[in-house]
Amino acid sequence: MIVTGGLGFIGSNFIHHMIHSRRDFRITNVDFKGFGSNPANVGELKRNNRYRFVEGDIADYTFVRKILKNARIVVNFAAETHVDRSIANPAPFFESNTKGAFNLLRAAYERNVDKLVHISTDEIYGAIDSGSFDERSQ
Ligand SMILES: NC(=O)c1ccc[n+]([C@@H]2O[C@H](COP(=O)([O-])OP(=O)(O)OC[C@H]3O[C@@H](n4cnc5c(N)ncnc54)[C@H](O)[C@@H]3O)[C@@H](O)[C@H]2O)c1
Repeated sequence: MIVTGGLGFIGSNFIHHMIHSRRDFRITNVDFKGFGSNPANVGELKRNNRYRFVEGDIADYTFVRKILKNARIVVNFAAETHVDRSIANPAPFFESNTKGAFNLLRAAYERNVDKLVHISTDEIYGAIDSGSFDERSQ
């Protein structure tokens, strides 16, 4: 299994959960050590033989295609997440959240990956007057 953005908050917790609850998964954590990353989140996994870390950028298609060779499952947590920063400088958000997600979809198709799970956020919908958004919101 490839997990992207696994040095961040949610991705690292997902990796811990999968490594400890499932013995039949090997996990490759792909992260470019960006703004939200903290290598200490997965520090204790360094010696686990079902875990490895690869530094890389999902906005780089050549890299993404290489890393997805023989992958069965991809879970994408890699994103620029501090939304207020996108107002001052949107370019890194486009690179990771749009181009990076597209690269994963394209490479997953070309590599015949069985399943790609893309993690996102209801923040993409903007503000709501009452209640909360769900996956069917438009
Ligand atoms: N934190 C929350 O409460 C929350 C809630 C709902 C949804 N989400 C969503 O979950 C996902 C992960 O959120 P998080 O809070 O763990 O974020 P985070 O900022 O803690 O971690 C994101 C990770 O992605 C990596 N990354 C970013 N761009 C990359 C790239 N181009 N290539 C490789 N790695 C890259 C960063 O280095 C970082 O380690 C996001 O899509 C976010 O919107 C988070």
